Formats: sequence, structure tokens, C-alpha cells
Amino acid sequence: MSIALASLRTSAIRARVAPSVAAPVARMLNTSTSSNMASPTDAPATKKQPLLKTFEIYRWNPDKPTEKPYLEKYQIDLNQCGPMVLDALIKIKNEQDPSLTFRRSCREGICGSCAMNIEGGNTLACISKINRDASKPVKIYPLPHMYIVKDLVPDLTHFYKQYKSIEPYLKQNTPPADGKENLQSIEDRKKLDGLYECILCACCSTSCPSYWWNQEEYLGPAVLMQAYRWMIDSRDQFGAQRREALQNKMSVYRCHTIMNCSKTCPKGLQPGAAIAKIKYMMATD
Ligand code: SF4
Ligand code: SF4
Ligand code: FES
Repeated sequence: MSIALASLRTSAIRARVAPSVAAPVARMLNTSTSSNMASPTDAPATKKQPLLKTFEIYRWNPDKPTEKPYLEKYQIDLNQCGPMVLDALIKIKNEQDPSLTFRRSCREGICGSCAMNIEGGNTLACISKINRDASKPVKIYPLPHMYIVKDLVPDLTHFYKQYKSIEPYLKQNTPPADGKENLQSIEDRKKLDGLYECILCACCSTSCPSYWWNQEEYLGPAVLMQAYRWMIDSRDQFGAQRREALQNKMSVYRCHTIMNCSKTCPKGLQPGAAIAKIKYMMATD
């Protein structure tokens, strides 16, 4: 099943008000009725012919819970817009519809806030180039199979709770000899490459069919990759206990190596491979 189809079907079914969400969500939520964000149209006008492109964007308003989600169409001139999908969303919000709601912060692929489903794939809006073929609309949905706070904003409360559950910090019984620094060899530090770069955008977890159907108990690729990151950190002394905590049918073994996660990661990371390594370590402990 494609992510786009799944998104349309399940987001429509599952969208609902999540009143406890607003406070825990630390990332910036762009819900204001007016925006002071800089628009690419602030630049001097060019003489280029307009290149009109249609954007079809998922809308759902928790203040109107009886109304079903729908796709709303907006048209913008790509010659008066920055190159990325986030530029288009900001332009629409600034110039056409201040009620359009989405998250964003860094606009350079670092914070993970602008994760959404664009043209059938989970990715970051700020580093996704707009397809300049004006004959095809761009369809944008929230991350699939998540409860929706509003429009393109998914509720990540459970995702963050799962992240907290793996205790994503250094754990030691014996403090460093000098009482100050935890030294690490260059080789051991290199083992963390490809893991520490994760920005917890949730693109991978929300593209994983196993996570779609079992997300209450299955931890999903993003959280499991971070669990692995701490298991193999030479400074951490709780690797065995970390693996022991995952020894059950659901936490890790719901991964069936479908690899949607690695395919979709906008940072080019390999969470599926990290899960396979956890399974290997658990089998050989
Ligand atoms: S592994 Fe990639 S897709 Fe998954 S949360 Fe981290 S950065 Fe996002
Ligand atoms: S490899 Fe595992 S975690 Fe990744 S998409 Fe497949 S089932 Fe999900
Ligand atoms: S706005 Fe920060 S990753 Fe896109």
C-alpha cells in the first residue's frame, strides 16, 4: 500500500482532537491567524511569466470535529516563490490562508519539525524541491497513521514517550577515572556515525507498516535506532540491560525488515540496518 493512499484513508479515519497535545509538543506550531514569516516574495519582483502550480493540502480543523478532513487547493506562482515546498507553504499562509497550519523552525533539515508526506513520501518540506512541472499538482498530507492536531501537524506525544522509554542518555555504574571526562577512542567514536545524526523527524517510523499497525507496543525504527546508538556507545555500561528491556515479542521483533524506513529517511540514515544489528546482538547475548 502506498504511503499516500494509506495517509488519505487512515488520516481521514483517525483525525481527532488531541487536547493534551499542545503543551508537550516542544517544536514550533504555526497556528497563528497571521504570520510574520519572511516570504520569498519580499525579494524584488522579476519580469518572468507566471508559472502557476497547484498545491493540494490536507486540512482538518479540531474546532470543527464533525467535518471530515479534505484536500484544499491553492495556486501559486513558482516564479515568485522560493524553491522548496516549505517556501510554498509559507507563501500560501502569508498571502492566501493564514489558517493553514504546519510546523517549521530551522528551514535547513536540522530540527525535523516540517516532516510531512509530500507526493507520496515522508520527508522534510524545507529540503524538498518543488517539482516545477506545472501540469501536476503537489499533494501534501501529514505524516501517515498518526493522530492529527490540525492540518499538517501530527500528534507526536506517543513517539516522544517511546523515545523517553529507551533512556536516551549515558548510563554508567563506574564514573570516569578522573571524575570528569568520559574518554573515547577515535575508532569507538566512529561507530556512532550514521546514528547520532538522526533528527527524530519520525519520517521513518510513520512509513513503517509494522509501526502503523502496532505503534502502541512496537517502538519503531527511529526509536530503535537510538536504542542501538546507546547500546554501542563505548562509554555506556548498560548495553545488556538495554537489550534485556527489548526482549519481548513486540518492542523490536515486529520489524519484518521491509526497509521502508531506510528508504524514506531524509537524512540518508539506515534505521532498518540498526534494527537488524540489535536483533543480532540480542540473539548472541
Ligand atoms: S532515522 Fe531518519 S527518518 Fe528516522 S527519525 Fe531519524 S532522521 Fe528522521
Ligand atoms: S525495516 Fe523494520 S522498521 Fe524498517 S520499515 Fe521495515 S519493518 Fe519497519
Ligand atoms: S524546518 Fe527544520 S527540518 Fe524542516
